[in-house]
Amino acid sequence: MQKVTLGLIGGGTVGGGVYQAIRKNGELMASRLGVKLRIAKVAVRKLKKARAVKIPASILTTDRSEVTTDKKINLVVELMGGVKTARAVVLEALRNGKSVVTANKALLSAHGEELFEEAHKHGVNLYYEASVAGGIPIIKVLREALIGNRITSLYGIMNGTCNYMLTRMSREGIDYEPVLADAQRLGYAEAEPSLDVDGHDAAHKTGILASLAYGFWVDEKKVHVEGIRDISQLDIQFAEKLGYVIKLLGVVRQPAHTNKKPGKKKGFVPIQAAVYPALVPKDHVLANIHDVFNAVFVQGDIVGDTLYCGHGAGQDATASAVLSDIADAALDLKCGSANRVPSFVPHEADGEVADTDDIISQYYVRLNVVDRPGVFSKISGILAKANIGISSIMQPEGHEGDTVPVILMIHDAPNRAMKAALRKIAGLNSVKGPPAMIRVEQFDR
Ligand code: NAP
Ligand code: HSE
Repeated sequence: MQKVTLGLIGGGTVGGGVYQAIRKNGELMASRLGVKLRIAKVAVRKLKKARAVKIPASILTTDRSEVTTDKKINLVVELMGGVKTARAVVLEALRNGKSVVTANKALLSAHGEELFEEAHKHGVNLYYEASVAGGIPIIKVLREALIGNRITSLYGIMNGTCNYMLTRMSREGIDYEPVLADAQRLGYAEAEPSLDVDGHDAAHKTGILASLAYGFWVDEKKVHVEGIRDISQLDIQFAEKLGYVIKLLGVVRQPAHTNKKPGKKKGFVPIQAAVYPALVPKDHVLANIHDVFNAVFVQGDIVGDTLYCGHGAGQDATASAVLSDIADAALDLKCGSANRVPSFVPHEADGEVADTDDIISQYYVRLNVVDRPGVFSKISGILAKANIGISSIMQPEGHEGDTVPVILMIHDAPNRAMKAALRKIAGLNSVKGPPAMIRVEQFDR
């Protein structure tokens, strides 16, 4: 039987999970693939560290180049995280003729194009199934299973940490600090958890899926990002009363509703690529994805609606996705076909991302207003002048003190006009504190 010798860089949550999973199911994989897998080295930062998954000292090293330059190692698995050093490590491995598996969405988001080109140049491949949506094989879906479709839209809950936090905040009525600590303890959160709660991790993933779906590499700076830091218990409760659940969504689509005509470049309607918390109608399937689960809802012009769901973060789910890449790489090495399914094929020369300010959405707005006559007329006057329609107003009873919350549900309005109107509303004497604005997603465009 042929053998593939692996070198891991990173032996933490995911690296430990991959080591453990290969010990558990390596034989099974070998019998399915006809290739034996052996882990020769695992590079870490510190040799002496208590590890939840024990890795024999004989294969641990702190010298990453022992992995990237060892001639016996033919597949490098980068699971260290971060961008700068990880980029150097991956480039070194590719330049040494080794295919690389990575779970590092921050790295791909920043340097994907460069790394894919480098892999191509050296006749090797870069595999990245674990970079998006944990255990869900969404990269394979977009690259292979749906290859015959134009993707009309894609909506995803793609950050396990945020979904876990929002679920517990909504079920238990608690605030986000203690829930974030639990997400960290469970191995869901990034080493730098602001990547999760501020939406950047989901934005990295959204950019990767947008690139695959539309055939041009989406610059990470073009993905609009809003996180869940400002989502309050009040918003979760009002959303619930209105028939919605708040979810952090990644959205990729060619919107029918924008404020602008099709792009500067002929023929291509600019895509929306964005991450934001949204009110999702309770009867939509994505409203029912809870805890650390992720789900990606993909609409193709031939297949119609499809849904992919599974654990979106954590040791085992991510290890499973890494194993899938290791299996692909092992088969490619066995068959001498490193580029059978290339990492990324740019095929849309005119692709561009729309400016979020031009995107038309519906909105939930919560204001904290002084409880006196005439307040509504000032607020509705500002909205009317901006040509923004209100579909409903709710002023919940039972609030004590001088101010009361007012909820406005807003009809379709361009983001730019909405933001400008809210700035004016926030300037009214009768409005206290910053307005909360959350998009309402109807999944119909
Ligand atoms: P982690 O638990 O912090 O593990 C990182 C590992 O890399 C540790 O073993 C660490 O060594 C090692 N490392 C860090 N810097 C290094 C360096 N300069 N040289 C050598 N080794 C170094 O992180 P993780 O959660 O496993 O995440 C790893 C990657 O997977 C990240 O890109 C992350 O975004 C991605 N990912 C994570 C999840 C998840 O659920 N956790 C899911 C999907 C993707 P020490 O052990 O000695 O500190
Ligand atoms: N921190 C990430 C999440 C890990 O919570 O989704 C999986 O990519």
